[in-house]
Amino acid sequence: MTLRSKDLLGMKELNPEEIDEILRTAEMMKMVLSSGNKKTSHLQGKSVVTLFYENSTRTRLSFEMASKFMGAASANITTSGSSVNKGESLIDTARTIDVMATDILIMRHNQSGAPHFIAPHLKASVVNAGDGMNEHPTQALLDMFTMKESFHKLEGLNVAICGDIYHSRVARSNAIGLRKMGANVRVAGPATMIPPGMEKYGCTLAKTVREAVEGADVVMGLRLQLERQNKSLFPSVSEYARFYSISPEILSHANPGAIVMHPGPCNHGVEMPTVIYDSPQSVINEQVKNGVAVRMAVLYLLMARRNQE
Ligand code: CP
Repeated sequence: MTLRSKDLLGMKELNPEEIDEILRTAEMMKMVLSSGNKKTSHLQGKSVVTLFYENSTRTRLSFEMASKFMGAASANITTSGSSVNKGESLIDTARTIDVMATDILIMRHNQSGAPHFIAPHLKASVVNAGDGMNEHPTQALLDMFTMKESFHKLEGLNVAICGDIYHSRVARSNAIGLRKMGANVRVAGPATMIPPGMEKYGCTLAKTVREAVEGADVVMGLRLQLERQNKSLFPSVSEYARFYSISPEILSHANPGAIVMHPGPCNHGVEMPTVIYDSPQSVINEQVKNGVAVRMAVLYLLMARRNQE
């Protein structure tokens, strides 16, 4: 099965069969990664460029490693050190990369909708590596992959997403993707940090973190994104931590065997204490590890579609 679109812009644009195909392909890629030789030739003779207008450690590095493991020629552009700093527009930057025979352009941008804007103008496939407060589809895919590894299913799982929902593209992509795969999603956070219309994704709004976590199989914390706030949405960080942190007491209300997730980077002591971050229930390092396999799967499937054309 191939993907319907040349681009991966969001979980909104993927159907359940495509999500399933990406997760299955990622299983294969994880086997490759755990073998002695991580190299494949799936992207040999192809080129992959990452264009990041925002900082990143996990997403950028995992895409770069995925490209290299699969044999692609890969390059990286960030705003500092590129002509973006001379005022070059997004579309001119993207077209410049496109005409250098780029096959896949992976972009992170601070504006929601930026990858959707450039994609129709390019021959290259565009992958959304996070656009403003909109979506971060490959994070949701690696989160779903990690949940599936723990529970061997997504359908019927109870997932609690806690914290700064408003600014979180991870929460949005997970809510959309998980609902498409039949999981139940509850969200909790300060009232000022729950975006209007979250229910339209099929989520339930919980009044407290404890209510969200009650009977959950998966408890996901989110980074408090202070850099996206131009006015304070809660009294203080310590008060936020007191009411919205995933503490051992809060976690005791989840199902036995529940896992703890966080997309990273984590503000220790705010979203959760270090004792939870490092606990046996935490699969946070597994999420990071799975990011490489899932991104290999995305690159593989997009290239397969391009080769068919
Ligand atoms: N989860 C995530 O997107 O992390 P980075 O910002 O480090 O890429």
